[in-house]
Amino acid sequence: MKHFVTFEGIDGSGKSTVSKLVYERLIADGLDAVLTTEPTDSLVGRFVKQCIQTQNDPFVTSFAFVADRMDHCRLIRQWLNEKKIVLCDRYDESTFAYQAAQLDGTIEDPIRWLKELSNNRIIVPDRTFLFVLSPADALARIQHRESLIPFERQAFLEKVNKYYLKVCKGRRFKKIDAMESVEILVDFCYHDIVD
Ligand code: TMP
Repeated sequence: MKHFVTFEGIDGSGKSTVSKLVYERLIADGLDAVLTTEPTDSLVGRFVKQCIQTQNDPFVTSFAFVADRMDHCRLIRQWLNEKKIVLCDRYDESTFAYQAAQLDGTIEDPIRWLKELSNNRIIVPDRTFLFVLSPADALARIQHRESLIPFERQAFLEKVNKYYLKVCKGRRFKKIDAMESVEILVDFCYHDIVD
């Protein structure tokens, strides 16, 4: 059984839909689970959302995301202590992918710099699912959204994808084909968590 599980991928990858359905299935099966998201709804989280909308300086945005996560970890730790399964829609790999893409060209090794900001200060997930698909496919899925947030541009998402693939390596990660049907994806994640 995995206790702390995170869902990652570019905008339009379907991770929010799948994580919600996995959560509902866990609850329906009588398991104690929580579904949470980043950026959060806290005061810091609201500042983070403002940073995205106004395309604030990437360093300010990076510090804000990390602060939101460190604050979020207090709640996550509490849920884990209560023996809940915690599902989190976006977590630290989002920062290593999106903020690294923003910082690309401004500092030598953005991932390393970003990792140092939260090193040993946040909880490491037991499992991270990376939903993989091309930015063209992802954007085709979300083009109907009324106001696309500034991050949702193809060239930028290509860079985000590159950083995601760079950082999501190791036993904790499972890369999944986001073009599969929702039913297959939910089933796969569910069994990976409970089996
Ligand atoms: P959402 O669309 O999944 O709600 O996320 C909002 C945006 O925030 C999305 O475009 C990805 C971005 N984001 C980052 O840039 N860095 C982060 O660390 C997180 C958690 C999200």
